[in-house]
Amino acid sequence: MRYWNTPPCIDVEEVEINIRRSISASSDIHAAWSVVLKESGKPIGFVNYHHREIRNRRLEIGYIIDRSLWRTGLMSEAVGSLIDHCFKNLDVYRIEATVNPDNVASLSFLKRLGFTLESGPMRARMWTSDGRKLDALMLALLEPDWPRGAPSTTSKMLITPMTTAN
Ligand SMILES: CC(C)(COP(=O)(O)OP(=O)(O)OC[C@H]1O[C@@H](n2cnc3c(N)ncnc32)[C@H](O)[C@@H]1OP(=O)(O)O)[C@@H](O)C(=O)NCCC(=O)NCCS
Repeated sequence: MRYWNTPPCIDVEEVEINIRRSISASSDIHAAWSVVLKESGKPIGFVNYHHREIRNRRLEIGYIIDRSLWRTGLMSEAVGSLIDHCFKNLDVYRIEATVNPDNVASLSFLKRLGFTLESGPMRARMWTSDGRKLDALMLALLEPDWPRGAPSTTSKMLITPMTTAN
């Protein structure tokens, strides 16, 4: 994947291993949610936070959605729900995202959510699975700048904590 630092899973077993790893992480540091369609329960993407530092009231977010659903607004709602959760329930003050300068979709997406570009490009900040180094820009959103109240209940999506069948 062009802007992602882990390769696509090759089979269901590998997906389960990744999910187990995610579930076993301490929520003091990392947590992940599936984004699913409300009506069918079909998984369409995920959102997560990582590199949480409780003492510094900060964390970093990640997000991805099935290409067939890009520009449908579902991801804005999913990430909006994640942001609400972080600010309301985790005592977070600062949410960060690091994005490759060429990832126009992600940069526009974050700016539309209210994130501000703070620094970069930071050189060689990430390595892709096929061995390319990526630069990154740092964007951040502070709690007082997040105007949103409760997430919309009319959405066609839900975010749900990751679990495995077993
Ligand atoms: C980034 C990503 C999650 C955006 O998802 P999305 O489905 O387009 O999100 P939304 O439909 O909620 O889009 C909200 C806004 O983002 C911006 N946006 C999204 N894609 C864009 C693009 N290709 N070009 C410009 N702006 C874009 C627009 O402002 C859009 O609002 P609009 O459709 O009303 O113009 C999606 O492109 C993705 O999964 N990319 C691959 C994974 C990835 O790069 N993750 C982030 C790593 S840092």
